[in-house]
Amino acid sequence: MSERAYDHDRLRQFLAGEAAGEGLSRRNVLRMLSVAAGLAAAGAGAAAGIAHAAGKPGIVKPLPAELFTVRDTNAETNWAALRGTGYHTPVDRFFVRNHTSTPVLDPARWRLTVWGGGLRGRPVEFSYDDLRSLPAVTSSACLECAGNGRSYYGSQQGDRVTGTPWTLGAVGAARWRGARLSDVLRAAGLSRRAVDVMPRGLDPAYTAGGTDYGHVRRPLPVAKALDDVLLAYEMNGRPLLPDHGCPARLVVPSWVGIASVKWVGDIEVSDRPLFSPWNTVFYRLFGSAYPPGGSAPLTRQPVRSAFEAAPGAAFAAGRGHRLTGRSWSGGGGVRRVEVSTDDGASWREARLHDAPRPGGWVRWSTHWHPREPGPARLMARATDTSGATQPLRSVPNDQGFFFDAVVRHPVRVV
Ligand code: MTE
Repeated sequence: MSERAYDHDRLRQFLAGEAAGEGLSRRNVLRMLSVAAGLAAAGAGAAAGIAHAAGKPGIVKPLPAELFTVRDTNAETNWAALRGTGYHTPVDRFFVRNHTSTPVLDPARWRLTVWGGGLRGRPVEFSYDDLRSLPAVTSSACLECAGNGRSYYGSQQGDRVTGTPWTLGAVGAARWRGARLSDVLRAAGLSRRAVDVMPRGLDPAYTAGGTDYGHVRRPLPVAKALDDVLLAYEMNGRPLLPDHGCPARLVVPSWVGIASVKWVGDIEVSDRPLFSPWNTVFYRLFGSAYPPGGSAPLTRQPVRSAFEAAPGAAFAAGRGHRLTGRSWSGGGGVRRVEVSTDDGASWREARLHDAPRPGGWVRWSTHWHPREPGPARLMARATDTSGATQPLRSVPNDQGFFFDAVVRHPVRVV
């Protein structure tokens, strides 16, 4: 079944009340939707609602101010820190998106349980060594939060949305190594009846606005699970750090970051469609441009571009400068990037330094020779191999997902 057909089917089943698992009746989901709408009305700060001490985001690795901007329980990569870093994002500057806090788990004591009506037999347990004894594959892929760029709905378009006010630093590319999820599922006795698989994280349960949503979990269609998904235990040649999912996490290339569940403790394999708040209340598009029940659950990431420069960076007038950046898309590799330095009046093609590759990004550069001192804006617009191009304005949604418009990056010519 194609992804689009799957999404439509699931949305129809969800609206018809056919949700399975964890007591998620349609009535419950509709109640949760109204909680989410309440959170939307309450404003951005309320959406997080996590108790944690100020300045302590629950992240283990150091978060120096030159590399990260801390946003509540999350750490955003500063784009200027990626200049000159090569294709893969070094782990010391890879963004962290935590619903609650990083659990520190011992790989030797960790177990993964695969269970459910979509298996031929009883639940099967895997140790860390079991996982590592399956054939290992290595894959380069971007990981990105669906809410990346959210703050520009407000600052660039005047739209009111809720959620972590990321600029463009909730994205990174890594070389992941692990077992194929398909090998794990087959070793567990996957049956032909299986429809959905739902990995669940071992991090603390997520509570917001007085509702306990339980552990982070989100169903994946079996077709995607058997395609290119990894159960990764290494990132850029080293065991995963606690913040990125140690001992093991899913890596779901091209899809919204929430699909790449960290600290996986169990995977339900179901012969019926599965639902969780992460594909009903969150990570769907709600708002005036969408049906009352919201869009289908989000899957592939949109096209985006960023300059490797700090906001407000200074460039000397009357001199040549090399501007660098990266573009990526869940819809296919990026095949063209255009840059404008005159507020969109004219565009020139940037030079691409990587071939378009599904799931990856391309690095690019262009030359700029600003003449007059004063404020300026850098704009980059990418097109992917499916033909999708970044628009000048994004259609807003209440939770501020999928901001794909060209960002006006403010700089100063001095
Ligand atoms: N998995 C668990 N268990 N808990 C989480 O909070 N956050 C998700 C995903 N997996 C999350 C999770 C989201 S929204 C994103 S964008 C990615 O992890 C971020 O991965 P990273 O922190 O390694 O960059």
